[in-house]
Amino acid sequence: MKFETPATTNPIDQQKIIGHPTPRVEGPLKTTGQAAYAYEHHAVLPNQAYGVVLGSAIAKGRIASMDVEAAQAAPGVIAIVTAANAGKLGKGKYNTAKLLAGPDIQHYHQAVALVVADTFEQARAAAQLINIKYIRTDGAFDLASVRDTGVESKDQMADTLHGDFSAAFSAAPVQLDATYTTPDQAHAMMEPFASMAAWQGERLTLWTANQMIDWSVSDVATTLGVSKQNVHLISPYIGGGFGGKLFVRADAILAALGARMAGRPVKVALARPQIFNNCTHRPATIQRIRIGTTPDGKITAMAHEGWSGDLPGGKVELAAQPSKLLYAGENRRVTMRLCTLDLPEGNAMRAPGEAPGMMALEIAMDEMAEKLELDPIDFRILNDTQVDPVNTKRPFSKRQMIECLRTGADHFGWGQRHAQPGTQRDGRWLIGMGVAVAFRNNLLVKSGARVRLDDQGTVTVETDMTDIGTGSYTIIAQTAAEMMGVTLDKVVVRLGDSSFPVSSGSGGQFGGNCSTAGVYAACVKLREAVAQRLGMNVDEAIFADGQVHSGAQRVPLQDAARKGELVAEDSIEFGDLSKQYQQSTFGAHFVEVAVDSATGETRLRRMLAVCAAGRILNPTSARSQVIGAMTMGVGAALMEALAVDKRMGFFVNHDLAGYEVPVHADIPHQEVIFLDETDPISSPMKAKGVGELGICGVSAAIANAVYNATGIRVREYPITLDKLLDKLPPMI
Ligand code: MOS
Repeated sequence: MKFETPATTNPIDQQKIIGHPTPRVEGPLKTTGQAAYAYEHHAVLPNQAYGVVLGSAIAKGRIASMDVEAAQAAPGVIAIVTAANAGKLGKGKYNTAKLLAGPDIQHYHQAVALVVADTFEQARAAAQLINIKYIRTDGAFDLASVRDTGVESKDQMADTLHGDFSAAFSAAPVQLDATYTTPDQAHAMMEPFASMAAWQGERLTLWTANQMIDWSVSDVATTLGVSKQNVHLISPYIGGGFGGKLFVRADAILAALGARMAGRPVKVALARPQIFNNCTHRPATIQRIRIGTTPDGKITAMAHEGWSGDLPGGKVELAAQPSKLLYAGENRRVTMRLCTLDLPEGNAMRAPGEAPGMMALEIAMDEMAEKLELDPIDFRILNDTQVDPVNTKRPFSKRQMIECLRTGADHFGWGQRHAQPGTQRDGRWLIGMGVAVAFRNNLLVKSGARVRLDDQGTVTVETDMTDIGTGSYTIIAQTAAEMMGVTLDKVVVRLGDSSFPVSSGSGGQFGGNCSTAGVYAACVKLREAVAQRLGMNVDEAIFADGQVHSGAQRVPLQDAARKGELVAEDSIEFGDLSKQYQQSTFGAHFVEVAVDSATGETRLRRMLAVCAAGRILNPTSARSQVIGAMTMGVGAALMEALAVDKRMGFFVNHDLAGYEVPVHADIPHQEVIFLDETDPISSPMKAKGVGELGICGVSAAIANAVYNATGIRVREYPITLDKLLDKLPPMI
């Protein structure tokens, strides 16, 4: 199905099942431990062996010699895979050849060997016996010191130079020029990277934890030099990914190589302390923002210039991107510069670009409002735009930024905020409120599905879509149930298997809208097939209550499958609507904090997010997505930072003891309000992404609340107490 014109009324609009709070259909399997994750397929094959990955002890340089003799002779050892015996690995789209290093080393903890043994303990013990001599060379590990070497990455984000920023900024009577920094951050998902590989001749089966099945099948095939048809990837349950599992990592490639060498199934999980340096992270950014306004607060000049680093040939973090679209203003400069760093690979983490970008931009907006003596909500409303401010012929498909701000202000009691910072106390606590806009684009990716109807009236959906803890199983079941007029218990959803039709996968908050739209397309075909079998005109047929009605005819749905199962397959393909319209999601974050006036400790008191993100397919899972994202934003604001060893080039706090993420005790009551919105420009589902919106802006709302509480403006995240301590106002 091609989606080229705005959606009209369709069966999803009935909202009998779509749009209702619905618990996870696979929840009982997960909470009772019956959902097998990648490392847990203990029984599917006999004779499983264990692989343990050895990571490089240097960040940059080469292996001078590697002695595996003692390891090879250790008890239980079956095979040792190294670059010397693995054969040439194909490059893959996502640098998969680098998942096994040697002799050259590109980053710390890059895999240099896999030891395969009968037991995990034997493999782990033997890995310690590998004796490697390294020749270390100097590398670049500090973004600030290489900032000036950054280059434009045209294929990712060409500079936006609109109007005459410099002239407009110089002429602006009110100006802000401030620089913000965000640190390297880790996905820190619960489930580690894990895979099990088994070969039958040339055919590889890979159980793994992966967000994007089809990309990954291609990469595995290219890396190993086998045809795509010979790679079967299975990833039905995933314990979080946040972008870290968009690509296959060392566990998958090395499990496959190890299994080939050992002639047995091999399972590999990366140990938690390896993951932070072996895998990807969200790169640190430096962001300079300049805003110029008229005396009454209209933005006339806006510059957002950012820098981030990555390994040679890597990618830039598109942090400045939101400033292309979020606020009005005639003169604009939005640029990103990519610097070469020899730290582990930087890559996508939940709302790549927008998340760190909004952390900076939305403090800048708060600072500017203060200069103008405007309420920060009023300042944002004053600079709303309903069209792309650079290409003004492109309207936003829906943009309820103002409504989000106003609804949130009412609900949160924004009127009670003291405009003067540092003036509200509760005993020893300094109290403050902060606001920020949430903004994340809505991306559209082709997505396919197959639907079956059997003679019991069961509808089975098959697609290679993944559920990374987001609720895909449930919204896909809801979509099929709504389309076929059956109850949820008549729908079976099978995901995460490369033998199913190719879906959008889970990434960039596009999975929810796109994968259900693909299921919608397949269901449209199935409805046609049903009508045809029943001798009805599909345009007149009504699918409801497990029956098909047409005129006086009323037939149980399963009758259509009496002569054999009905199968329909289709995909949704998006046309030019995303060129004609800017599709984005919006929200507003409200936060109340208390800062200890003696210790500088920040405690959150209340949080509210108001979101406008198209039709909310399942308010239960959408709310969970937003509160999860808000929680991640709390981490980004107050505690999360990978500490870089700038001499040796690695992340020092590379486990969940040293890399701090929020725990329950850090998180107060969180509330989420979804504004009523359907967006017919987006898809037949009229939904948009919501999984990443909630992290965008929330950290800035916290920073702004800390400022309101204390009068201390912290521009370097995270806002740890050492940055407040010596500036706190005197105790009364
Ligand atoms: Mo998302 S960071 O594209 O999984």
